[in-house]
Amino acid sequence: MRTHSSRSHGVLFTCMVITLSMPFLVSGARPPAPVQRRQANLSYSIPMDGGGSMLTQVQDTYPPGLGEPINVIISANSDSAVLQNTVNNGGLINYYQSFNFSTECLGQHSGDNQGANLGDGNGYLNQTAVIRWDYGNVQLGTCEETLEGGDHIRYWIQNGADANSGAIFMALSYEMPIAGRYNLGRDWMIGNATAQSSIIPTSKLTNGSTYSGSTSFNGYTYHTTVNYVSGLLQNSSVGINHYQTVAVNDTSAIDGLVAVMMVKIATRRGHIDP
Ligand SMILES: *[C@@H]1O[C@H](CO)[C@@H](O)[C@H](O)[C@H]1NC(C)=O
Ligand SMILES: *[C@@H]1O[C@H](CO)[C@@H](O)[C@H](O)[C@H]1NC(C)=O
Ligand SMILES: *[C@@H]1O[C@H](CO)[C@@H](O)[C@H](O)[C@H]1NC(C)=O
Ligand SMILES: *[C@@H]1O[C@H](CO)[C@@H](O)[C@H](O)[C@H]1NC(C)=O
Ligand SMILES: *[C@@H]1O[C@H](CO)[C@@H](O)[C@H](O)[C@H]1NC(C)=O
Ligand SMILES: *[C@@H]1O[C@H](CO)[C@@H](O)[C@H](O)[C@H]1NC(C)=O
Ligand SMILES: *[C@@H]1O[C@H](CO)[C@@H](O)[C@H](O)[C@H]1NC(C)=O
Repeated sequence: MRTHSSRSHGVLFTCMVITLSMPFLVSGARPPAPVQRRQANLSYSIPMDGGGSMLTQVQDTYPPGLGEPINVIISANSDSAVLQNTVNNGGLINYYQSFNFSTECLGQHSGDNQGANLGDGNGYLNQTAVIRWDYGNVQLGTCEETLEGGDHIRYWIQNGADANSGAIFMALSYEMPIAGRYNLGRDWMIGNATAQSSIIPTSKLTNGSTYSGSTSFNGYTYHTTVNYVSGLLQNSSVGINHYQTVAVNDTSAIDGLVAVMMVKIATRRGHIDP
């Protein structure tokens, strides 16, 4: 069920040229800043500060060493229930289900693993799980997605000892060879998570664009506010998996924007939270 939604655009930054190419090559020089869990207003710790990367490691790419962008973060300032990797108590899986994404077909993981290093001291770990567009059917819909391709999420939790923020880092990609698969995978998911009535205009997004809206599932209503930020990811095709097919004409394979989601539980099981 979808309820109210709203949208607004941030200021257009005209002179913005981001040259964060290959952040993992220049990272690691500084020792990671010590981070307390649930530190006041810590949304997430920047992976590069701890020797990590906003690109995943993909096995057997051609040429070798390509990665996929981690283009969405669920802020650690979200309600802590949403940051728990569980279907219960309004947790992360229930949240995904509130906007028609669900766990993989019959619990089977299909496709390759990808590694991510969130700079939290855990090094590269394979994704915690893959979550797929469920075609409106929480139980069996992801079987269709697995067969037909479609929008999917790989996620990792930033919970290592060096940067235990609890934020959820997500790599969104739309399977099948469509141009712009990462940007579109991100924006179609954000469009659903904020209950937009029309598709988010990817080419018009800038640092500071915001969207918000509410979704519900299984007795929980979530209010999600999204802020697009630049500077975490490169705005170029360098090192990006499938860059040959993803780049749209002269634009790069990714636009360098990361959607930072702040998720609050508005009501649970019919009761308004204090
Ligand atoms: C945390 O951020 C909110 C708004 O995002 C602000 O109102 C509040 O003052 C901040 N708290 C601290 C401790 O910085
Ligand atoms: C990730 O998965 C691959 C298999 O796809 C496996 O070879 C590798 O050891 C895994 N890495 C970690 C850190 O578990
Ligand atoms: C999303 O799931 C809800 C039930 O949670 C359903 O009512 C709705 O039709 C689904 N939307 C789409 C586009 O599949
Ligand atoms: C919701 O996701 C579906 C499947 O990826 C997509 O077709 C649809 O356009 C999305 N809706 C919005 C508003 O982005
Ligand atoms: C990405 O870089 C191109 C120029 O290479 C620029 O036109 C575009 O506005 C940039 N996008 C963002 C979101 O910064
Ligand atoms: C993005 O916008 C924020 C808030 O206005 C600003 O502090 C930041 O410097 C901007 N980032 C870039 C890379 O322009
Ligand atoms: C790329 O450019 C061609 C020629 O200008 C145009 O026909 C096509 O629609 C463009 N593709 C996309 C995905 O924008």
